[in-house]
Amino acid sequence: MPKLTYLGHSAFLIEGNAGSVVIDPFLSGNPLAVTKPEELAVDAVLLTHGHGDHIGDGLEIAKNNSALVVAPFELANYCAERGAQVHPMHIGGAHNFPFGRVKLTIAHHGSCAPDGTYTGNPCGFLLTMDDKILYHPGDTALFYDMKLIGDMNPIDVAVLPIGDNFTMGIDDAVKAAELLHPKLVIPMHYKTFEVIDVEPGEFVAKVRDQGLESRVVGIGEAVEY
Ligand code: NI
Ligand code: MN
Repeated sequence: MPKLTYLGHSAFLIEGNAGSVVIDPFLSGNPLAVTKPEELAVDAVLLTHGHGDHIGDGLEIAKNNSALVVAPFELANYCAERGAQVHPMHIGGAHNFPFGRVKLTIAHHGSCAPDGTYTGNPCGFLLTMDDKILYHPGDTALFYDMKLIGDMNPIDVAVLPIGDNFTMGIDDAVKAAELLHPKLVIPMHYKTFEVIDVEPGEFVAKVRDQGLESRVVGIGEAVEY
């Protein structure tokens, strides 16, 4: 049974029987984060796109752990040029790693590194560990293909951005939950900045109204799924 720990913003540590990964580890730049990058022991760093609030401390964590950066091709190359071991992928592709299976999904958003380097298309991740499926859509708008993702994959947990302005807001994320119909829905990408200061409790209540299980996971809190 994999364990997910919310590290704040869009960052999650996922620990399974065959290894651990961190997704979008924005820690030292996030005043709400309670975990330091050097505290993480992981086999891979999964990055959805190059924006500073997602690539975060990813390069440092990858180097500290000799961990693989798994990211869309252009972003993986950007990380390789900065000394990380990488496994480039692209949207629609899946690969079996020792720690689990990763498939890249579409995301409607942008992607450049903090220094302005263009880092290709952003992505989401379907991550299968211990036969459980986690869907992390990255930063994205609502899109109807989420129905296809949900129909083709029995998702155990979906973490969804709800903060509005840069991504889906609450009502669009509730519709996303409906299309994905996962066993558990967890909100992310809210409150970190003033412009995304929305109430996760409102989201959770609206998802539950759709007959789906949802809960707020606090920063530093862990959930098994
Ligand atoms: Ni972004
Ligand atoms: Mn973001």
